[in-house]
Amino acid sequence: MTKHKILLTRRWPEAVEKRLSADYDATLNTDDVPMTVAAIGAALNDYDAVCPTVSDKLPAAIFTGNHRARILGNFGVGFNHIDIAAAQGAGLTVTNTPGVLTDCTADTALTLMLMLARRAGEGERELRAGNWTGWRPTHMMGTRLRGKTLGIIGMGRIGIATAKRAHAAFGMKVVYFNLVDVPEDLVAGMEARRLDTIEDVLKASDVVSLHVPGGGENTHLISAERLALIGPNGMLINSARGDVIDQKALIDALKTGKLGGAGLDVFEGEPDVPAELIALENTVLLPHLGSATTETREDMGHMVADNLDAFFSGKPVPNPVS
Ligand code: DGY
Repeated sequence: MTKHKILLTRRWPEAVEKRLSADYDATLNTDDVPMTVAAIGAALNDYDAVCPTVSDKLPAAIFTGNHRARILGNFGVGFNHIDIAAAQGAGLTVTNTPGVLTDCTADTALTLMLMLARRAGEGERELRAGNWTGWRPTHMMGTRLRGKTLGIIGMGRIGIATAKRAHAAFGMKVVYFNLVDVPEDLVAGMEARRLDTIEDVLKASDVVSLHVPGGGENTHLISAERLALIGPNGMLINSARGDVIDQKALIDALKTGKLGGAGLDVFEGEPDVPAELIALENTVLLPHLGSATTETREDMGHMVADNLDAFFSGKPVPNPVS
């Protein structure tokens, strides 16, 4: 039987590339050079499945006309880089990879929190630059997390996992904003309080962690006004999507001391990161490492493969984007 033709737009973990190459007529991106919008658009005519990821752009314009491709197997849980309505309107099934990256992304939120509160980035830069003059009682004092209040915006899988870790490890009190009710059993054991508005959470928190999808109504959800509510001693953590924060307003708030600090794994317009942000000592900046462990990236890839397998054998896909 002829194998279905599939395209992976970037390099994937070796184990998954092997599996897909055995089961499909798979084109791999062995040089890992990002594909242009036009090249991905053209691929829709040449392949039965296109498997894009977070760093690609799939705007509405590429989904006009008749395509050979019938499924987009997205490597990643977030899909704000794909115009879903246009893709589905063109008859494509879209799948993603929820669940398998929850723990690693929550770990990254905690990493940012600890690094920011304890000034770990600043300290490392000082030491590596040869500027450390030795221990002293007032050297680089940070903030203790124990007993502080963590505000979660978006109490989904990753928000809950972050809150659980912060409560268990540091005894942080948890407040959160979520559009819909969160089942009691999912937030049990951390005395989490749901507040009515985002503003209520920002005002009540020492540390705010963002866990909402990017794009659409969440673009610039955290505006200049909302940043000011977190306050001069407050810390903002973002391991969700860069566009959830108004990045210009963030830089201004950090520069003028309206916001205490920011720990960021994601950026507006990444991989470009403004020099102004890089120059600020009260930031911790990571290159979108949220899910970057071998185990998780393999799980994500196998999840895409499972979705393709189901689709091409006429079964319901396990992880449809609806
Ligand atoms: C995703 O899957 O959307 C993440 O951002 C990748 O870490």
